[in-house]
Amino acid sequence: KQERKESMMIALNYAKDFFVETMQKNEEGNAVGLGYFRERGFNNQIISKFDLGYSLNEWNALEQNALKKGYQADILAAAGLIMQKNDRQYDRFRGRVMFPIHDLSGRVIAFGARTLKKDDKPKYLNSPETEVYHKSDVLYGIFQGKNPIRLKDNCFLVEGYTDVLAMHQAGIENVVASSGTALTEGQIKLIKRFTNNITVLYDGDEAGINASLRGTDLILEQGLDVRVVLFPEGHDPDSYCREVGSQRFGEYLEANAKDFILFKTESLLKGAENDPIKRANVTRDIVQSISKIPDPIKQSVFYKECSRLLGIEEEILVDEGRKLKSKEI
Ligand code: CTP
Ligand code: MN
Ligand code: MN
Ligand code: MN
Ligand code: MN
Repeated sequence: KQERKESMMIALNYAKDFFVETMQKNEEGNAVGLGYFRERGFNNQIISKFDLGYSLNEWNALEQNALKKGYQADILAAAGLIMQKNDRQYDRFRGRVMFPIHDLSGRVIAFGARTLKKDDKPKYLNSPETEVYHKSDVLYGIFQGKNPIRLKDNCFLVEGYTDVLAMHQAGIENVVASSGTALTEGQIKLIKRFTNNITVLYDGDEAGINASLRGTDLILEQGLDVRVVLFPEGHDPDSYCREVGSQRFGEYLEANAKDFILFKTESLLKGAENDPIKRANVTRDIVQSISKIPDPIKQSVFYKECSRLLGIEEEILVDEGRKLKSKEI
């Protein structure tokens, strides 16, 4: 069992090397793959730091090379690198730029792969769950980011692979990506090994805002301090960094990081000012979030602050919070 996992990881590492070499040395890889990263402004240092690569637009490029090198087809399939259907076998990743996903110690356990065609779906094709890749326990960029996260005592949380790349290139290395989904408990525990502070940088679209409003209670529950930065409509960290440059991007983060509870209160209150029913619902929603905070002192500070923002007596909020908490159990 352990031996099989080991073989899968050796195969995944080999695949990573193959995709890297394809992008650097193969004509198609160079023109299409490297050209793509260049076009987006990523430099060689970032490309090599993250082992970025390219998969040829052919059915069996990886498979044929791997078999020649002595890798077994069933291991390649178990690792999610090749697909076996009926009696046909073909590469999962074809004609895409490749983002290897590393575990905490830097071993490759999966890939994210972006299409280069404008309206091709899915935009990102990812490795399936395998014996070595449990998506819910992994964060993209944790290997490259763990020491910076510890040193800065803060972890920036972004949605996308390219957001991680752009921030590293801007010199902000304490960052990981959730890969587009809400954080799981396992992922939060992973961050907690290095810091108790998370700053959430979600895309400035409705999906991003909703994700940051919804997904965050779990982080509060784990006792982390959460801040949020919102980007101008239509921007994600990568595109915004590209637009304003590294210096101003860093300043923007500093100037706009807002405590999550206050951010949530203010964003939900927008448009509800003159609607008592809405305001009552917003209040309950906020109290729900505050009641998740395990530290009673922090909790009390937030009740006070939100009582002011919502115009509701602190005692009522505290009581309601207690009720919600006891209902939970
Ligand atoms: N994602 C995914 N599958 C998709 C779409 C998105 O796994 N079909 C994940 C990827 O990890 C992606 C993240 O969700 O990086 C955020 O999605 P999105 O904002 O749409 O992509 P970007 O990371 O901004 O990618 P790009 O800048 O290359 O368009
Ligand atoms: Mn699993
Ligand atoms: Mn998005
Ligand atoms: Mn993007
Ligand atoms: Mn994005």
